[in-house]
This record gives sequence, structure tokens and C-alpha cells, in this order.
Amino acid sequence: MNNAKIKAIVVTVSDKRTEAQDVSGNALAKLLVEIEAEIVEKIIVSDDFEDLRNTLYTLTEREDANLIITTGGTGFAKRDNTPEATRAVIEKEAQGLAEAMRFETLKKTPMAMLSRGVCGIRGKCLIINLPGSPNAVHECFEVIKSVLPHAINLISGDTNHNE
Ligand code: MTE
Repeated sequence: MNNAKIKAIVVTVSDKRTEAQDVSGNALAKLLVEIEAEIVEKIIVSDDFEDLRNTLYTLTEREDANLIITTGGTGFAKRDNTPEATRAVIEKEAQGLAEAMRFETLKKTPMAMLSRGVCGIRGKCLIINLPGSPNAVHECFEVIKSVLPHAINLISGDTNHNE
């Protein structure tokens, strides 16, 4: 089976963070490199729904990326719009990824219940929402990292399930 390279765009969703303070985005990029993903780009977007939806849409149109992984904006506050912006862009929801992250990390903290993050597919791109804290990024990524290569293979068109 051909392994498609994971080509990731890291999106930090925050009204406040600057490049210099982007602890979660940097942590996420590091975790992705550890699984041999290529970081195509790393950006910071405000919590504004329209900005975020338009950004996610534009990123899914790119030929050079197959994974968009966001951190932040998944909670219960008024400006937390990441799940809604993601739903507005995806064609298929990948509930299993979001369910697994909440279920597994609930064993570490009840706060896991407070993330409304969703995951889904548009075209040849997978979008994954992670919560905003660096701890949450580490905990949630640990849950999904082993299935990411196969998920990206399937999205890229390799439908061989016989692993
Ligand atoms: N999930 C895990 N695994 N670990 C955490 O520390 N923090 C929670 C939750 N999910 C947390 C977590 C908290 S405190 C909040 S408010 C929500 O994610 C939403 O965070 P966000 O709005 O920064 O995305």
C-alpha cells in the first residue's frame, strides 16, 4: 500500500494569540513532525465565524495540503465558533475521531466534555478540531495519531483496507 504523505496546515483559532505566543500551535506542529507529517503552513485566525469559515474553505481548496488541524475555539464561550465554521465547510463528518478524543481524554479530565470539536472531510482534505490548551492538544493528538496515516491514505484515494 502506498503511504500518502501527511501535508498539514496548523490553524490556531484565537482573537488574542500572536505568533510569539502560539504555544498550542507550536506544540501541534511539533507533534505532527514527530509522526513525519510535513507542515505546509501555520496560521493564526480570529474567532470570527465568517473569517474562520472562509479560511477553512480556502485551505481545503489547496492542492498542497491534506490535513487541516485547528486548535482553539471549540468551547462554550460566545466567540467559540470553530465547530460551526468546520461544519459549514465539510461534506462528511468524521464523528469517530471527535468521539474518541473526548471519550479517551475524559479519563484524564472531566473538562474534555467542554470541547465541542468536530472532524470531517471536504474533498481530499481532513479537518480536525482540537481544543485550545497545550495540554489538550497533547492529550487529544495522542488518541488520534495512530490512525492519521490510514485516514489520509483513504482520503487520498487508496481504498485498500487490508492492513
Ligand atoms: N480536552 C482535554 N483532553 N484536555 C483539556 O485540558 N480542556 C477543556 C476542553 N477539552 C481540555 C479538553 C476546556 S477547559 C475547554 S474550555 C474546552 O476544551 C474548549 O477549549 P477551547 O475553547 O480552547 O477549544
